[in-house]
Amino acid sequence: MRILQVSAEIYPLLKTGGLADVAGALPAALQALGAEPRVLLPGFESILGGLKDAETVAVLAPPGAMAAAGVRLLHGRLPACGVDAYVIDAPACYLRPGGPYLDANQQPYADNHLRFALLGWTAAQLAGGLDPRWQPDVVHAHDWHAALAPVYLAAAAETQHRPRTGSLYTVHNLAYQGMFEARHFGELGLPPHFFAMHGVEFHGQHNFMKAGLYYADRISTVSPTYAREIQGPEQGCGLDGLLRDRAGVLSGILNGVDDAVWNPATDSLLAANYDPDQLAGKGRCKAALQRELGLARAPSAPLFCIVSRLTEQKGLHLVLEALPDLVQRGAQFALLGSGDADLEAAFRTAATAHPDAIAVKLGYDEHFAHRLVAGSDAIMVPSRFEPCGLTQLYGLKYGTLPLVRNVGGLADTVADARLETLDVDASGFVFDEFSTAGLLQAIGRALALHRRRADWKQVQQRAMRRPCGWDAAARTYLGLYRRIAP
Ligand code: ADP
Ligand code: GLC
Repeated sequence: MRILQVSAEIYPLLKTGGLADVAGALPAALQALGAEPRVLLPGFESILGGLKDAETVAVLAPPGAMAAAGVRLLHGRLPACGVDAYVIDAPACYLRPGGPYLDANQQPYADNHLRFALLGWTAAQLAGGLDPRWQPDVVHAHDWHAALAPVYLAAAAETQHRPRTGSLYTVHNLAYQGMFEARHFGELGLPPHFFAMHGVEFHGQHNFMKAGLYYADRISTVSPTYAREIQGPEQGCGLDGLLRDRAGVLSGILNGVDDAVWNPATDSLLAANYDPDQLAGKGRCKAALQRELGLARAPSAPLFCIVSRLTEQKGLHLVLEALPDLVQRGAQFALLGSGDADLEAAFRTAATAHPDAIAVKLGYDEHFAHRLVAGSDAIMVPSRFEPCGLTQLYGLKYGTLPLVRNVGGLADTVADARLETLDVDASGFVFDEFSTAGLLQAIGRALALHRRRADWKQVQQRAMRRPCGWDAAARTYLGLYRRIAP
């Protein structure tokens, strides 16, 4: 089974969030099952830099306003990701100061519709036989950046009267849809009648996410609960009607954790390694973290952490409101994050007010994220919504008990610790109501359990032993690919 994974990011070469972790881990898990995945990526600087033994597959001649001289498709290996890759070498599109989606002033690039239509269009060319040596049986597109792949596949089938290659479209976050003004639709070289309610049109605009959801053979998202939630108006971001229509082909498949990257027994970034049977190393990680952050060196003070994009989604204002109480109860708190300027400033202020108990690191730091997760006692993910969430999974694996809200993938991966669940399945702390009171109540329960050392350790060990690799998800994906391309 040949699968073309189409994504804008891939760990460790380019990452803005969990999408990259998934794109970096899923191919290896599929390979382990005997499948033959390749990835297709935009030629951002870091991705071109990671591509080895590159050769030109074809000079591309994209349609419409994507037409640009000298756009090439490269094929090579990405040793850092352990996968074969196609990379679109289009310097005018992808080699720019700023991030992959936003310019240096944090504004979306004005031609994002073209930059990412090129990704979807190229996927459809590969499906159509652009590389005579390798043709995918299935195209698996991730998030809005790759969402036009199924659309160009449908267009090619229609105009060239050939069977269409099957596609799976995975939503990692319904909140980011890739919406563009209707006037840009004509620049994409798609059949005009695709701009319709039964097509790519959405309230008068062109919506990449909707297009992917509409044209893909099957669709999936990254947890069973989120798959249900997005079929309702509250979390459907306006697309719940379409998702309900397509419920028969919609799956929720939980992400895993890449054991080669996140494993406390082998993680070379830690002050000490540990496993469920030998937890002493975790204490050394905590002491090292408190020292590194200038926190009071208190081995028994419960230390809560967060590793997160600082956005509305993540419920961080609840944490800000809960911090004074948390500190007053003798706990410590450390955050690693970047994003919203107001949230950054508010966390910085909190740290200045309580330097012994609150530490804040603003910015993006993959290595520090490992030290922070390993050295903390608990990790908070109080999201308003969360398609899957990865940091609570890292928390489970590192014996850093997750304290999460009861939504999306958080609800599917963390079991609340209550008296009656302590000996059964408890693995963290779960609260329902999206409020500071709800969060504080869960914090209170975490603090109470933390005082009962033996019970805490029991929950910790269970959390660490919970299977969370990529194997199960890869098997499920493979099952879907087989249904798409029998
Ligand atoms: P999302 O994709 O919505 O941001 P996830 O929990 O799925 O949320 O994935 C976030 C990923 O990004 C995790 O691997 C997390 O460790 C990482 N991450 C988030 N913020 C930072 C940061 N400031 N520094 C390092 N890693 C971060
Ligand atoms: C998105 C979601 C997150 C999920 C990640 C990877 O960024 O916000 O919940 O874990 O994608 O699927």
